[in-house]
Amino acid sequence: MIGRIQKTLLGKHGVQGLDDEAHRLRKQMFMSLMTPERIEVLMAITAEEWQARARLWALRNEIVLYDELHELLTRAACAWAGVPLPESQVRQRTHEITALFDAAGSVGPAHWRARWARKRADRWIENIVGRIRSGQIRPPEGSAASIIAEHRGSNGELLSPHVAAVELLNVIRPIVAVGVYITFVAHALHQFPECRRKLEAGDDTSFTEMFVQEVRRFYPFFPAVAALVRRDFEWGGYRFPRGRRVILDLYGTNRDARTWDEPEAFQPERFRKWDGNPFNFIPQGGGDHDLDHRCPGEWITIGLMSQATKVLSRHIEYDVPEQDLRIDYSRLPALPRSRFIICRVKENANDPI
Ligand code: HEM
Repeated sequence: MIGRIQKTLLGKHGVQGLDDEAHRLRKQMFMSLMTPERIEVLMAITAEEWQARARLWALRNEIVLYDELHELLTRAACAWAGVPLPESQVRQRTHEITALFDAAGSVGPAHWRARWARKRADRWIENIVGRIRSGQIRPPEGSAASIIAEHRGSNGELLSPHVAAVELLNVIRPIVAVGVYITFVAHALHQFPECRRKLEAGDDTSFTEMFVQEVRRFYPFFPAVAALVRRDFEWGGYRFPRGRRVILDLYGTNRDARTWDEPEAFQPERFRKWDGNPFNFIPQGGGDHDLDHRCPGEWITIGLMSQATKVLSRHIEYDVPEQDLRIDYSRLPALPRSRFIICRVKENANDPI
């Protein structure tokens, strides 16, 4: 991955830069966090956070959904990962974690803000790792903080405090970044009212999952992944010489007309027929979760997006005022220009969160 992204979004010496046995072992550490039981715990925490935020939103004229999600998800991610987050630090830490992904692709002052946020966030979590190892903090068993602080590499040694911090942030940061997709969920509910009607009716339970998959296919997020060729090879008539930098076009693959009928149309039902091919629908990377670099957070992402779909279509009511909803593709991550404003929020008394 290019240097400026490593110095902000990913951090240095984390799982993304490992290969072969070292990668497999480190990847297992992440995969062990993704059991259905652990994901249920996260969903219960985020349900409470949605409820708390919805009450506050009801007291305000209007809110910018994307901005509000940062704090909601930071609180939930830290609680789930076993990282203590005192109330007095919530704003600052939310700001730092958000800068890691929201400003990572920028140039100029915003990039430097992301670099500064990376330093602060690394230092914060290194300190937490040190306090876990010295017994001052006892995170819940099975939590990311506990597993990562205790993880041993193939040499039998604990990860250095810095690498442990980078990996713990590799769990917390992307959970907060799911707010980008949740903003797209809200956008899709608004732009495609026939989908909203089906979700409100709630009689086809598989429709929520198909809707979420279509949001991941249709909307841009992580546009491409980069790698270096390790051994010369040929594929599809192209020669890949050792040392060549290559990119895999995630967004283009998800909209390739050879796989998807009418790829520019938003059609959740297309997922009724999708065969689960690990190479043609790759919003979070392709291949094998255990062996390749494919995102281990896909189930969490789908879980959080499905929950958000239910909250936004059934559990809360709101209006969408006039605003600029065009997607700004010039930034990374791409977002609706208005970041999705909603007003007159209230909890649905018949169907509370
Ligand atoms: C917000 C939505 C997300 C998007 C768009 C996303 C996207 C990606 C992509 C494109 C990759 C690289 C795949 C490759 O190189 O083949 C990746 C890897 C990774 N993701 Fe995600 N991700 C998301 C959520 C998550 C979540 C929720 C977690 C953890 C809780 C997570 C943890 C990771 C880790 C640790 C890796 C590195 C895996 C490796 O190198 O083996 N991601 N993600």
